[in-house]
Amino acid sequence: MKIITSPKEMQAYVKRARTDGKTVGLVPTMGAFHEGHLSLMRRARAENDIVVTSIFVNPTQFGPKEDYNAYPRDLENDSKMAEKIGVDVIFAPSVKDMYPQGYATFVNVERITEKMCGASRPGHFRGVATVVTKLFNIIPAHKAYFGQKDAQQCVVIKRMSEDLNFDIDIVILPTVRENDGLAMSSRNKYLSDEERRSALVLFKSLSMAKELIRSGELNSEKIRQKMLDIINAEPLARVDYISIVDAETLEDLNEIKDNTLIALAVFIGKTRLIDNIIIDQINPLK
Ligand code: PAJ
Repeated sequence: MKIITSPKEMQAYVKRARTDGKTVGLVPTMGAFHEGHLSLMRRARAENDIVVTSIFVNPTQFGPKEDYNAYPRDLENDSKMAEKIGVDVIFAPSVKDMYPQGYATFVNVERITEKMCGASRPGHFRGVATVVTKLFNIIPAHKAYFGQKDAQQCVVIKRMSEDLNFDIDIVILPTVRENDGLAMSSRNKYLSDEERRSALVLFKSLSMAKELIRSGELNSEKIRQKMLDIINAEPLARVDYISIVDAETLEDLNEIKDNTLIALAVFIGKTRLIDNIIIDQINPLK
């Protein structure tokens, strides 16, 4: 497995692979790998001749009071995990490589970035859209793999990719969870034992929402209220948002319909966690 840090060298590598008729799969990450990341790499491995994983803790997607400095970094361990899966190249540029002095260009996806995580993290999706655009240009892959765990990020990247005519298939894979249901996240590392137990309220409230819908409750406000009740009963948890929206457009829904996204962000102590489910089909008989 190769580790490349220079964008120019990375671009040349992919260009050569494509000239040789090889298909290329890209898995963009910020490192600190867990099974969620590895599931994307495994799928990319199965579907492409060459797999590139980028590891870059992207400063432009963190707010000034967020955890950019504290974000876990472990290139050595990540490399071992990626190598086991058969990743061909890790692209691990420095901040200077990606944002050299004088850097002035940003990608702004409008409207769908203004709510949910975008409302609590102003500028976050501008940073994500910018770095993913740069990665798509440095690593012009055939397919790029993202996790449903970051539901709004998936919608934003699909929108941006279509709007900017990227010739890259965006593949979205399901959320990988711990045995008890907690969605895997690099930020779970911040949780104390007590917080780790409290963090289960995200999954619990989503599971309860699913149950309610299964039993015929389609009123979004009622579902949201029941989710709030569950989370508010947990002393260490504080709701940031609970959104019930169309999974493609992120428009608010008063009534659950097919393809509804239920997404939430909750602070557990100081750690902000997100999770979501998609109700693809309402089927009260199930
Ligand atoms: P990061 O949080 O490292 O996540 C990298 C990829 O792994 C994302 O597509 C994310 O949705 C996916 N992922 C994270 N947890 C997952 C889980 N439990 N199950 C399935 N997939 C999961 O998301 C980012 O990095 C950055 O914003 C990035 C896109 C790399 C741009 O900087």
